[in-house]
Amino acid sequence: MDGARVYKNKNALFIYIRCCLDACLICLVVNMCGIIGYIGNDNGIEVVFNGLIRLEYRGYDSVGIGFKDKKGKIKAVKSVGRIQRSDVAPGMPNLEEKIKENGRFKFDSQIVIGHTRWATHGAPSERNAHPHVSMSGRFAIVHNGIIENYYTLKKELVDKGYKFSSETDSEVIAHLIDYFYNGDFVEAVRKTLTKLDGAYSFLVISEVDDFIIGAKKGSPLCVGIGNDEIIISSDEMPFVDRTKKVIYLNDNELIIAYFNGNYDVKSFEGIDIEKEIKGVPYDIEAITKAGYKHFMLKEIHEQPTTVKNAFISRVDHLDTMVRDNFPNLPRNINRVIYLGCGTSLYAGMVGMYITERYAHVPSRSEYASEFIYRDPVIFRNDVCIALSQSGETADTKEALKIVKDKGAYVAGIVNTVGSQIARLAGKGMYLHAGPEIGVASTKAFTSQIIAINLFNMLLIDDDDYRQSIINEMKRLPNKIKDVFNNEDYIRDIAPMIARYKNFLYLGRDINYPVALEGALKMKEIAYIHAEGYSSGEMKHGPIALVDDNLLSVFIITGGRDIYQKTLNNLLEIKSRNGKVLVITDNVDEMRKYLGNDDYIIKVPNTIPQLTPIINIIPLQLLSYYVADHLGREIDKPRNLAKSVTVE
Ligand code: G6P
Repeated sequence: MDGARVYKNKNALFIYIRCCLDACLICLVVNMCGIIGYIGNDNGIEVVFNGLIRLEYRGYDSVGIGFKDKKGKIKAVKSVGRIQRSDVAPGMPNLEEKIKENGRFKFDSQIVIGHTRWATHGAPSERNAHPHVSMSGRFAIVHNGIIENYYTLKKELVDKGYKFSSETDSEVIAHLIDYFYNGDFVEAVRKTLTKLDGAYSFLVISEVDDFIIGAKKGSPLCVGIGNDEIIISSDEMPFVDRTKKVIYLNDNELIIAYFNGNYDVKSFEGIDIEKEIKGVPYDIEAITKAGYKHFMLKEIHEQPTTVKNAFISRVDHLDTMVRDNFPNLPRNINRVIYLGCGTSLYAGMVGMYITERYAHVPSRSEYASEFIYRDPVIFRNDVCIALSQSGETADTKEALKIVKDKGAYVAGIVNTVGSQIARLAGKGMYLHAGPEIGVASTKAFTSQIIAINLFNMLLIDDDDYRQSIINEMKRLPNKIKDVFNNEDYIRDIAPMIARYKNFLYLGRDINYPVALEGALKMKEIAYIHAEGYSSGEMKHGPIALVDDNLLSVFIITGGRDIYQKTLNNLLEIKSRNGKVLVITDNVDEMRKYLGNDDYIIKVPNTIPQLTPIINIIPLQLLSYYVADHLGREIDKPRNLAKSVTVE
């Protein structure tokens, strides 16, 4: 939750302060909970349990399921910690041990909801975990998002005699439904919706009726339509092995899911809506580890293919396919503004260098989270490109809304098909990189750089330029495979590298965003302090850090000029007895400057526009093997989440 947004009214400010003070509650800045609901003939406990495992990548600290038991009563089982027993040390809490006995599920139910919670209001604890059951015991809800006016609603409900058993914002939903229930479950939910402010999606089950209701406003919700069953969840992963038929709910829509695969979709006002059934664009294999120790390693290794997927069908049809992706691009573009967060922002930064240098159009890249509070000046012929792997990142979505409202030309470069940013942008390119499950983004970054190059080719009316990029793109999958020749070396040096307490990642020009992204990876998964810096700026401060605990990681590729300048910076570090690791396409020359305790990783030579793709891969591997050596939770690093769906 971001301060400036919350402070919009005094009441919200009060909520925020209360959140922070209340018994040391943890008020964190992200909320990526996952929700899932099942109605069908199978044991929904098992379906929901397996579905929750697939939602783990979103990040969570507690988990729970709610279901109707044989007598039609609502039961909730919750746990802090992990979903599966095998993911925790013996004796540590997990959901599995509460719902399984001798390897078999203890419960059987055909109407089940489940939730992975990432704490926002109230510390991670069993009582704050979802589902939340109304005081009467009649309704249970799971919720993703934030109910911004929960404190006012909570006060009103407390005045009416409702007792709260958690510190969450979500619990108000269960009590409100109960309060409004007057014999009509759907009506009670609809009345509740009129009371809620904020971004949310939730699922609710009741003792009184045999259906699940799901509602969406701001947070994602999609519906898998099986033959005799319906699975509603935050994304398609929980049901992709059961059905490929999906409908995506829009904001202000609710679904009522019945037995036998039947459902109704309505607006919050109660008007029936006809939804198009779409196909899930990937297979179950795409979301398994395929023999790799971690999803992240698998995803790093997928890059020869994912990079190819991003360009292969497009490069021979630039003037049709790619131009169609960006219809009616203004003739006189004022600026190209790339918007994103985290890794996607750094891809946008690469875009900025490409757009200015080769398309000669002013360009910038912006932290979406800063941009949205700056009241940015936007012109009609500004082209604003939102970059996002998940397509759900709240800040990026908000930034996109702002530039759209201000009349700019908007487009998205997004991996997740049908995601909110993709739909809001309405045009742009999908990456076709398949689901990225490791929390630290890898393959999305390299595919984003391909997409950025394709977009820029539209701005550059020079066939030779385009052809040279296309030719090099086609060579790229093999060059990436060559990078993997370093993998054994990187694995071998990881224990030595892991001894450093600090890292400076240094690059110049188009390698500067690579330095930022390399450092981000090391922070995210190895939990070691790492800073990305422009190597030219290094002597204006960071050089004071050079000591035995600091490793300087240099990215030295590119044109002669940049190469030489970055090399000079390396020599400045070396002359102060600093230790370095160098990523370079010029190993022979580099060896002359390095000592026996420095490290060198050879990458193939490529053109500057694509060099970040080649250079980031050894840095991804370096973080991976350092983190693995340190025994980190690589796919689900502490405190991080895959998609950050609140500002
Ligand atoms: C989170 C993830 C990062 C990611 C960022 C932007 O912080 O942990 O890995 O780069 O969100 O995500 P997006 O899905 O918009 O690319």
